[in-house]
Amino acid sequence: MKLIDGKAVSEELKNALKQDVLDYRKKSGRVPHLAAILVGDNPASKAYVGNKVRACEQVGYKSTLVKLDDNITQARLLEEIRKLNEDPDVDGFIVQLPLPKHINETEVTLAIDHKKDVDGFHPVNFGRMAQGMPAFLPATPYGILLLLERYNIETAGKHVVVVGRSNIVGTPISILLSRKSKSGDATVTLAHSRTKNLADVVRLGDIVVAAIGIPGFITEDMIKIGAVVIDVGINRVEDESAPKGSRLVGDVDFEPVRGKSSYITPVPGGVGPMTVMGLLLNTFKSANKEIYS
Ligand code: GUN
Repeated sequence: MKLIDGKAVSEELKNALKQDVLDYRKKSGRVPHLAAILVGDNPASKAYVGNKVRACEQVGYKSTLVKLDDNITQARLLEEIRKLNEDPDVDGFIVQLPLPKHINETEVTLAIDHKKDVDGFHPVNFGRMAQGMPAFLPATPYGILLLLERYNIETAGKHVVVVGRSNIVGTPISILLSRKSKSGDATVTLAHSRTKNLADVVRLGDIVVAAIGIPGFITEDMIKIGAVVIDVGINRVEDESAPKGSRLVGDVDFEPVRGKSSYITPVPGGVGPMTVMGLLLNTFKSANKEIYS
């Protein structure tokens, strides 16, 4: 078993990006700029956005954090999005999810200018991605592709089982891995809560991507010997022996599954840091007008 060290890979990529940012600044006289809108004070969202802001500092980007109250109206939130859409200094921005229940998430996603949609959630980017056109790829799937490449994990002809069909991870990674491209050409099964005989289906996977949001859901009996296991879950569970009284775990029952797999991502330190990296790389592509002129 080999541990896939997302933290180390993201540090390597950040160091390379830092140099590219210096060159960009010299050439253009400007600084790449990522903004984030955070609504309310969900502790996990605050931590994720904090990581994104810190990563911007590390690579030499400007970052702006727009903090909005939990009870903000839909109209006021759309107004904040309009301001970022129209600000020529902002290369890209994200609205951290989940949003409060009274906010219409679809309307928010549609309001973001797709040319600044560095999360890759807008249907224009999603559609372009699905057709293999240049697009901002959703940050977590993008990070997973980078990890597979970095560890030379072959995907062509492999059977990938993705568990979970969310718009931000399960569905896009299933499309990306089946595309005719690098880190693609896989045979992909997208399994979900209505899949029959889920354990039998997951056992077919040469590569298993777990993105369901249930701690320890993927157990050792579901894993084929030698499979590659990519754990996207970030779940906080109570643990009296941990300093905070809780700890982070993935969607995979790590220790037993680790013994059966050829490669596995840990939680934390696997996919999580690569999501931030995907976002930074998309922002740099936006600053360089690589996807849209
Ligand atoms: N919530 C969980 N993951 C993400 C993400 O990648 N982007 C945003 N905006 N919100 C999230």
